[in-house]
Amino acid sequence: MYEFYSRHEEYWEDDTRLDEQLLRDINKAVSDEFSAIHYYTRLAELAPNNQFQQAILGIRQDEIKHFDWFSKAYYDLSGSYPQISLNIKLPNTFQEGVSESIKDEVETVPFYQSIARRITNARIQSRIVRAASDEQRHGQIFQTIQSRFSY
Ligand SMILES: [Fe+2]
Ligand SMILES: [Fe+2]
Repeated sequence: MYEFYSRHEEYWEDDTRLDEQLLRDINKAVSDEFSAIHYYTRLAELAPNNQFQQAILGIRQDEIKHFDWFSKAYYDLSGSYPQISLNIKLPNTFQEGVSESIKDEVETVPFYQSIARRITNARIQSRIVRAASDEQRHGQIFQTIQSRFSY
């Protein structure tokens, strides 16, 4: 009897820890998206031509949408608002900003995929899967920009 309860409690604690980790990850995604919106605002200002600038502003629009999706997901799953922190160093040059962005977009894809796998709500999950595929596309756009850009 005792054994049953103690084991049961262990599982229960594991489930709670998982949920807390999931919420921490979604909260991080909210802050990352918030930071990306600011980062791409600056990067668009540094763009050397209109074509690159429009491409970056298009990506920025996606990040605004993602910010909204992750904020709503956090609220729906926890009943409270995420804590938003802005912790970024804005780019000094366009080239530096583009290579930082490639790194960031590429790293974000598996992070969002791992969040999506842990979400059971189908509507929230499909948005996060969509966000992951947007980030993959952003990475490709930045790689194209980098390959066409030379000093
Ligand atoms: Fe995003
Ligand atoms: Fe992105």
